[in-house]
Amino acid sequence: MKQTKILKVDPQQPEIDKIRQAADFIKSGGLVAFPTETVYGLGADALNTKAILDLFTAKKRPLDNPSIVHVENFEDVTRLTLQVSTTAKELMKKFWPGPLTLVFKRSNIVPEVTAAGLETIAIRMPQHKVALTLIRESRCPIAAPSANIAGKPSPTSAEHVLEDLNGRIDVIIDAGATRIGVESTVLDVSVEPPMLLRPGGVSLEALKDAIDEVQLHPFAVSEKEVAPEKAKSPGMKHKHYAPKAPLILVEGDLSKVMSTIKELIANYWLNDKRVGVLATSETAWAYEADVVKSLGSRRNVEAMASQLFRLLREFDSENVDVIVAEGVPLDGLGLAVMNRLRKASGYNIIKAV
Ligand code: TXA
Ligand code: MG
Repeated sequence: MKQTKILKVDPQQPEIDKIRQAADFIKSGGLVAFPTETVYGLGADALNTKAILDLFTAKKRPLDNPSIVHVENFEDVTRLTLQVSTTAKELMKKFWPGPLTLVFKRSNIVPEVTAAGLETIAIRMPQHKVALTLIRESRCPIAAPSANIAGKPSPTSAEHVLEDLNGRIDVIIDAGATRIGVESTVLDVSVEPPMLLRPGGVSLEALKDAIDEVQLHPFAVSEKEVAPEKAKSPGMKHKHYAPKAPLILVEGDLSKVMSTIKELIANYWLNDKRVGVLATSETAWAYEADVVKSLGSRRNVEAMASQLFRLLREFDSENVDVIVAEGVPLDGLGLAVMNRLRKASGYNIIKAV
């Protein structure tokens, strides 16, 4: 067991001595959790094989699932990749620093373990001051998956990281709750037209505004489980975002969703189950259940995205036997929210009719 050190920093003006302390751990092969604008990441030197292996162990992450590599300058992108297309350059100019991860063909300075055996590498330049300062002070690209135990909801606060990883990592930099609350959008620019692998902090609408064409990987937008051999991103195959209790997602017309959820609650109660409902501020009043939580207004998908993982984690301490969640609108960040809810349900989805 390690002693996990917590460094509280100012998100706007991070204290440089604290960031340097954390950077020293990265430089010597340690593991540091840090905030980004999306979720907290668990960072290690991307070019240090031993550190990356330790990262997989700490997170209990399967070795076939590579991490996103975080950079704070464009030269590192050139070093880590074989080729940067014109489209990729446009996207970087428009969306970096920010919640867009781009998948490139990788160069041979990237260790096998960092790439998890793939010919490609996923890179992003985060927008958070703490993240950028940490990368700069560490003087290396930082590989960072979300700082949760594999399979659990991603952490949007330092407390969530501590819950999962206390004693397993060296440092947690605590700069409060993250702003966006769902992970970055993953776009493969090693193919033409670029392919959306995971919806996230940059909306599909914004990508389509910036470039002519975007292909959608079926998994990124699917309501059903896609066969593992079709998974283009290793993360597509693995269980994700799951609270302790099974989650059932109800999609469709809102009034029908509400009546279906009410029927489900009645049925579970007949069977003496404790039921949690994940609702929205427009609908939460209508449910009588053991626990009702609201994601916020259906008219504000950004706000709903920022609350999603926190609420999923909160159900873990409510001792519910089952969680029933309402589907949300698919526009903007709604697509990312629905992708996470669908995965959290293990594709246990009811179409309300
Ligand atoms: O917002 C985020 O992206 C956060 C913060 C910390 O930056 N990170 C994050 O990392 O969500 P992670 O490891 O939890 O998710 C990375 C996703 C996984 O689904 C992984 O399979 C995919 O990106 N990925 C990584 N490298 C890839 C590659 N070379 N090709 C395709 N997919 C890749
Ligand atoms: Mg993750």
